[in-house]
Amino acid sequence: MLDLKEYGIVMWPEEKIISFREKLLTWYDENKRDLPWRRSKNPYHIWVSEIMLQQTRVDTVIPYYERFLEWFPTVESLATAPEERLLKAWEGLGYYSRVRNMQAAAQQIMTDFGGQFPNTYEGISSLKGIGPYTAGAISSIAFNLPEPAVDGNVMRVLARLFEVNHDIGIPSNRKIFQAMMEILIDPERPGDFNQALMDLGSDIEAPVNPRPEESPIKDFSAAYQNGTMNRYPIKLQRKSLFLFILKP
Ligand code: ADE
Repeated sequence: MLDLKEYGIVMWPEEKIISFREKLLTWYDENKRDLPWRRSKNPYHIWVSEIMLQQTRVDTVIPYYERFLEWFPTVESLATAPEERLLKAWEGLGYYSRVRNMQAAAQQIMTDFGGQFPNTYEGISSLKGIGPYTAGAISSIAFNLPEPAVDGNVMRVLARLFEVNHDIGIPSNRKIFQAMMEILIDPERPGDFNQALMDLGSDIEAPVNPRPEESPIKDFSAAYQNGTMNRYPIKLQRKSLFLFILKP
């Protein structure tokens, strides 16, 4: 386990973590967006939604998601779909490698997992096209496993909460946020906990024009309390990042 102190992060005491979870989940229960994939616990449905959401906005994804599941209602139907139909279903979403990888993964599920969607983080991670974020999202949402789903939104929220002085644009820093989430995540409702942070990060805690005074967790936020919201998250411009990588 990574030692957060070495990264200048002081984790909260247990009571504070518990009240943070409560505050965040209560807000989520009252404010969560009503999205079609949130009415399902089927890992195949959650997977389709997460892959579509990787590069595409929620509002755009909704009709694609619904049509995709009409055309390919099961893992098996995706595994055996003709390529032409597959590409048609993706037309307009772009990044076609996503759907090609999905078909390869569906075939893996048929051959390596007897047609049953894998129900462990390791099994899910072994599927083509599924990285740590997506594996965490599917594990927590569909299987209630306490696995973080760390993306840019989540890193931004955490960077403000703890005034993290590490650049969220440097890929190797992701492990810091992963370690924080492993401590913070609600063990009973990990999927809702992850999705609450996604909702917060994409609206109230957006990268531009955030509305921190509306945040349900502002009392927990070091940056909000210390008036340093505009300093976090640390994210160098691409050019400076390039120079930094050359000469750290
Ligand atoms: N973005 C990525 N995954 C999401 C989810 N499950 N809900 C809302 N936005 C998301």
